[in-house]
Amino acid sequence: MTEWNSETAEWYAANYGDYPTNRLAVEQLDLPDHSTIVDVGCGTGSALRYAAAKVKNGNLIGIDPVPRMIKIAKDSTKENKIGYQIHFRVGSAENLPAEDSIADLVLAFDSIDHWQDVQKGLNEILRILKSKGNFIIVKDLSVPRAKKDLNTLKQKLAAAGFDVDKKEIINTDEVSFSFWKCIVKS
Ligand SMILES: C[S@@+](CC[C@H](N)C(=O)[O-])C[C@H]1O[C@@H](n2cnc3c(N)ncnc32)[C@H](O)[C@@H]1O
Repeated sequence: MTEWNSETAEWYAANYGDYPTNRLAVEQLDLPDHSTIVDVGCGTGSALRYAAAKVKNGNLIGIDPVPRMIKIAKDSTKENKIGYQIHFRVGSAENLPAEDSIADLVLAFDSIDHWQDVQKGLNEILRILKSKGNFIIVKDLSVPRAKKDLNTLKQKLAAAGFDVDKKEIINTDEVSFSFWKCIVKS
């Protein structure tokens, strides 16, 4: 498992900072104006920059536990014309620095497999989601670990209070990934 620190943040940003899943998965999303979107394990902030281009007057929050990664995300967003909608915070999935019921949408793009405690992270996501909010999981299928333990993830989602509303494999020339849309159990 990758140990996330300043060094691996710089390696990730240089090699995968704008990994195609960020653009391709955001293309799948319906993003109404004024949405509040929280990206958990946001890396360089790539997904939020694509999202900001689709949302008017949104509140986009990127969270990542590595201060160096957050600095890279902020620097990469500075020159972006619609970047004023994006705010970055240091924090982990297991202890999200975000208010209860704030988010219309929570993203976890190639992030869950890096969390210390998946169940705790899912409980936190449920806490910050609005009752009609969606939680979007992306798993890059070129990463062998992403294909393992999918049943366990389903069980953990159910235990946290999510239903999987849609799960599809998206194949493109650039990358294949699984895309899950989860909703809060009614
Ligand atoms: C493979 S990168 C994906 C980054 C970005 N979402 C993307 O798709 O380009 C995994 C990210 O998860 C972050 N991460 C590691 N542990 C985490 C945790 N406990 N909670 C949230 N994010 C974490 C890492 O710092 C890293 O930025």
